[in-house]
Amino acid sequence: MQSIKVSASQRYTVHIGSGLLANCGEIIKEIIEPCKAVVVTDHTVEPLFAACVRASLAQAGFTTHLFTFAPGERSKNLQTLSDLLECFAVEQLTRSDCVIALGGGVVGDLSGFAAGCYLRGIRYVQLPTTLLAAVDSSVGGKTGVDLSAGKNLAGLFWQPSAVICDTDCLATLPHEIFLDGLVEAIKTGILGSEELFALIESGAIRENTEDIIASCVAIKASVVASDERESGARKVLNLGHTVGHALEACSNYSLSHGSAVAAGIAIMTRAAMALGTCDLQDAQRIVQLLESLGLPLETEYSTEQLVQAALHDKKRAGDTLTLVLPERIGSCVLREVNLSELSGIIDKGRGKHQ
Ligand SMILES: NC(=O)c1ccc[n+]([C@@H]2O[C@H](COP(=O)([O-])OP(=O)(O)OC[C@H]3O[C@@H](n4cnc5c(N)ncnc54)[C@H](O)[C@@H]3O)[C@@H](O)[C@H]2O)c1
Ligand SMILES: [Zn+2]
Repeated sequence: MQSIKVSASQRYTVHIGSGLLANCGEIIKEIIEPCKAVVVTDHTVEPLFAACVRASLAQAGFTTHLFTFAPGERSKNLQTLSDLLECFAVEQLTRSDCVIALGGGVVGDLSGFAAGCYLRGIRYVQLPTTLLAAVDSSVGGKTGVDLSAGKNLAGLFWQPSAVICDTDCLATLPHEIFLDGLVEAIKTGILGSEELFALIESGAIRENTEDIIASCVAIKASVVASDERESGARKVLNLGHTVGHALEACSNYSLSHGSAVAAGIAIMTRAAMALGTCDLQDAQRIVQLLESLGLPLETEYSTEQLVQAALHDKKRAGDTLTLVLPERIGSCVLREVNLSELSGIIDKGRGKHQ
C-alpha cells in the first residue's frame, strides 16, 4: 500500500493498494467519526463492490444508505444532482455525516458536487473504481455536472477528506475504459515524469498499476498544491485537452475521451516539434507510445471544425487560450495564444505548413 498526502485547502491522504475496499471503514474511521454515510454509486459498480464497502463501513460503526443511478456521462446532470441532494435531506444527513463516492469519474464528480453544496458543504471520500478516476478525477477537488450547453459547466472546487484506491477494482474494467485512464497517465508522464512515461512504455502496465497510479497522484497532488483553482500552473494538466475536447464535441461524443485526448496530445506534440519547443526524439517516443496502444494520432475533422469547437471551451479567456506544449518527456510549457493563431498551430501539429 502507498499513501500520498495532498496539501490543498483541505489536506488529505490518497491510499493506493490491493484489497483496500474491504478495509475502507477502518481507514475512513481514522479521519471521520462513525456517522451516517450515503454510498453513491452507479448500477454497474453497485453489484461489484457496494456490498463489500457497506459491510466494511458497518463493521467500523457507520450507518449506510445506498444511492444508485444509471451509469455513464448522461447521468452527470442537474436531475441526478437534485435526486441526490433530496436523498441526503430525506436521510437527514447533518454536517457531521458524509458521502462515499464509489465509482468512476461520473460518480466522483457528481457526489463531490452534491457533498460540496449540501448544507454548504459536508465531507466526502472518493473510492475510485476506474483507472481514470484513480489517476486523475478523484484527486484535486474539481467536482461538477454537465449542462445542456456543455460538459462540467456547473461545479465547485471541493476537496475530498480521503481517497481510497483499491487497485483490485480495475480487474473488471472493459479495455476501452481502462485505455481512457491510461491516456491520462501517459499525459501525466509527459508533463511530469520521464520515469512514469518509461514505465508505461515498458508495456508491463497491469503488473505496475499501483506504481503508475501512485506516480500520477503524486504529480497531480504537487500541481494542485501549487495552484488549486487553476489560475496558472494547474493548466498544465490540460495537455491534449483543448484539441481533445474539440474532437469529442465534433464527434457528438461518440469518440471516447481517451481517444480524443490521445489525438490531442499527438497534435500538440507535433506542433511543439514544429515550433521548436520539443525535442524530435522525445516527440517521436510520445507519438509511438500512443500508436502502439492503438490510439488515434489524427482526425478526419478539419482544422476549421476543431477551432470552431474549441471556441466553446470554457477555459477560454476572452480572445486567448492557454495551450500546453511538451518540451521533453517530463516537462511541458504553457503558451497563451490568440484565437487567431490557433488554427496555424493545429495545422502545424497535423503536418500542414502554411
Ligand atoms: N474532477 C476531475 O478532475 C476530472 C478529471 C478527469 C475527468 N473527469 C470526469 O470523469 C468522468 C469520466 O470518468 P470515467 O471514465 O471514470 O467514467 P464513468 O464514471 O462513467 O465510468 C466509466 C464506466 O465504467 C463503469 N465502471 C466503473 N468502475 C468499473 C469497474 N471497476 N469495473 C467495470 N466497470 C466499471 C461505469 O459504470 C461506467 O459505465 C467524466 O465525466 C469527466 O468529466 C473529472
Ligand atoms: Zn481528461
